[in-house]
Amino acid sequence: MGYSDTYRRSLEDPEGFWGEAAKDIDWNKPWDRVLDDSHPPFYRWFAGGELNTCHNALDRHVAAGRGAQPALIYDSPVTGTVASFTYAELTDRVARLAGAIRSLGVEKGDRVVIYMPMIPETAMAMLACARIGAIHSVVFGGFAAKELATRIDDAKPRLVLTASCGIEVKKVIPYKPLLDAALDLASHKPDHTLVLQRPQAEAALTAGRDVDWESCVAEAEPAACMPVAATDPLYILYTSGTTGQPKGVVRDHGGHAVALAWSMKNVYGVNPGDVYWAASDVGWVVGHSYIVYGPLLAGCTTILYEGKPVGTPDPGAFWRVIADHDVAVMFTAPTAFRAIKREDPRGDYVKKYDLSKLKALFLAGERCDPDTLNWAEKMLSVPVIDHWWQTETGWAIAANCLGLEQLPVKAGSPTRAVPGYDVRILDTDGNEVPDGEIGSIMIRLPLPPGTLTTLWQNDARYVESYLSAHEGWYLTGDAGYRDSDAYLWVMSRIDDIINTAGHRLSTGSMEEVLASHADVAEAAVIGAADDLKGEVPVGLVVLKSGVDRDEETIKAELVSLIREKVGPVASFKKVVVVDRLPKTRSGKVLRGVMRNIADSKPYKAPATIDDPKILSEIEDALKTIGYAEP
Ligand code: COA
Ligand code: AMP
Repeated sequence: MGYSDTYRRSLEDPEGFWGEAAKDIDWNKPWDRVLDDSHPPFYRWFAGGELNTCHNALDRHVAAGRGAQPALIYDSPVTGTVASFTYAELTDRVARLAGAIRSLGVEKGDRVVIYMPMIPETAMAMLACARIGAIHSVVFGGFAAKELATRIDDAKPRLVLTASCGIEVKKVIPYKPLLDAALDLASHKPDHTLVLQRPQAEAALTAGRDVDWESCVAEAEPAACMPVAATDPLYILYTSGTTGQPKGVVRDHGGHAVALAWSMKNVYGVNPGDVYWAASDVGWVVGHSYIVYGPLLAGCTTILYEGKPVGTPDPGAFWRVIADHDVAVMFTAPTAFRAIKREDPRGDYVKKYDLSKLKALFLAGERCDPDTLNWAEKMLSVPVIDHWWQTETGWAIAANCLGLEQLPVKAGSPTRAVPGYDVRILDTDGNEVPDGEIGSIMIRLPLPPGTLTTLWQNDARYVESYLSAHEGWYLTGDAGYRDSDAYLWVMSRIDDIINTAGHRLSTGSMEEVLASHADVAEAAVIGAADDLKGEVPVGLVVLKSGVDRDEETIKAELVSLIREKVGPVASFKKVVVVDRLPKTRSGKVLRGVMRNIADSKPYKAPATIDDPKILSEIEDALKTIGYAEP
């Protein structure tokens, strides 16, 4: 069946459609209903069913004869390591780690925070939690202690897993001191931490609380897979909201397993045994879905890459990995390709490698500019597919589904809605707008399996954030339009979220940090266009009256403060002092107008602006830090 028929069927008969897809998963107990719609706006997929996600990702492939096939290849140019784990080996390692986690008192439904770098043990930790029904919450290593503490306080884990360090190109980043600082800051105290010592940095352990990973695993009995309800939570993944409090996106077991297995075959067009590589980080949703769960659920070989697109050691790093491991499908963010293009615009490094096994490149995480897409197509001579999704959905909302039918590529558009998603463009009154007109991109409920079921212990915030704009609709937070071929064009966010190097950041949380500085009266953070990272945060601060300290010193303190409180991943390097911020008469800061000024785009002072003269002051201030220049 081609794309159009599949799409139509998915919306006309969702229960039939997803019930059939669920046959690709092993169930301990079949579901009572494919879709439980008895408590709208909360919808549950495969209610009454029981399964184990780890069994589906590992054990069943061993039972089916794939035991000797590589399940996970760890390729780490930063440590000079390549290691391969077969499905049999990975199953064994995960079962032992699950036993170790259980020996530390973790039971079904308990939360386990995982704060780890890109090493195989991180994927094993996630699968080990899934094996015993514990709920994992992975926190990206580039976040600072305070961000980690916020997540620990929300998830209330019984156990935190960490490693002694991460490695960023040549820098060794000790993780344990960050975790110690987070545990000091957090009100919730986990019973234990389990610490993997890496040779690049030894972590000091606190007796009684911190447990050595290797010895704990060596003493543990392997744990069997525990069947859980399809509707039980598999993981919580925190993502930026518009405030400093991140949103804990909850993903369930059943819908997640079914949707990801379906997406591997139908969106990415891969088969069991194929090598699939998502060059991202397990701390992001891309890493959850397409480094760990998706490829393993589908019986593929997944690559876990501890390196960068450039500098580890050169802009040929990605091509080497593709060639060395026979990668069939690759997935990364456009920013990675911009980084490569900047260092190797003619593609000299591409020519050094045999990329004949590569069938397609998928890009997501931020809007893909046509230049980057066209360059990647020219270099690789394979379809380059932009697809659009978000932490909340866990898998693609719009894509060119290669496994169904390859549709023509239009650079700048992630193609059409993926089966399961009824995507429409609505105006502020909730009416559908004509093709070509920009509006809020919304999805009609119910969302398909695998998408968020709620926010962790906060149904009210889930409803308020996503389901309240118009009854019966999910608000994606993105704005865009649909063209006459039903292609979607995702243009911008409607809220204060920005996207830096494919990483989603909240300007609101950065503003809170800037405002906490003793000399700052008021702060605004905007996302300014950046050639490499797409967008970078730029701060504008108003100092308290009477402050006469050196402005440069204050600015340097503000840059350090964001690094310390949010993390290096914020890429916050630019800040400027202004006398006042532009506001509407009701006091709303005009961030959108300031962003246009920074990007030298045409802008209009809204009729409600308090004092239009202020915009030229902002323009002059931004010029001093390299923005607002034509
Ligand atoms: N642990 C600790 N620090 C981290 C980190 C981690 N896991 N990940 C990033 N950082 C640090 C970086 O070292 C950098 O620190 P610096 O300010 O001291 O240089 C900072 O956070 C910003 O990182 P990043 O935005 O990644 O910038 P970069 O300049 O190091 O690299 C790219 C730029 C484009 C090469 C890089 O962003 C990249 O490879 N992106 C790939 C896309 C991707 O993974 N997207 C995720 C969603 S698909
Ligand atoms: P995250 O939750 O971190 O994956 O970020 C999701 C957000 O990134 C989306 O809501 C979009 O704003 C943006 N995004 C992701 N993929 C794309 C894409 N292909 N095109 C445009 N924007 C994208």
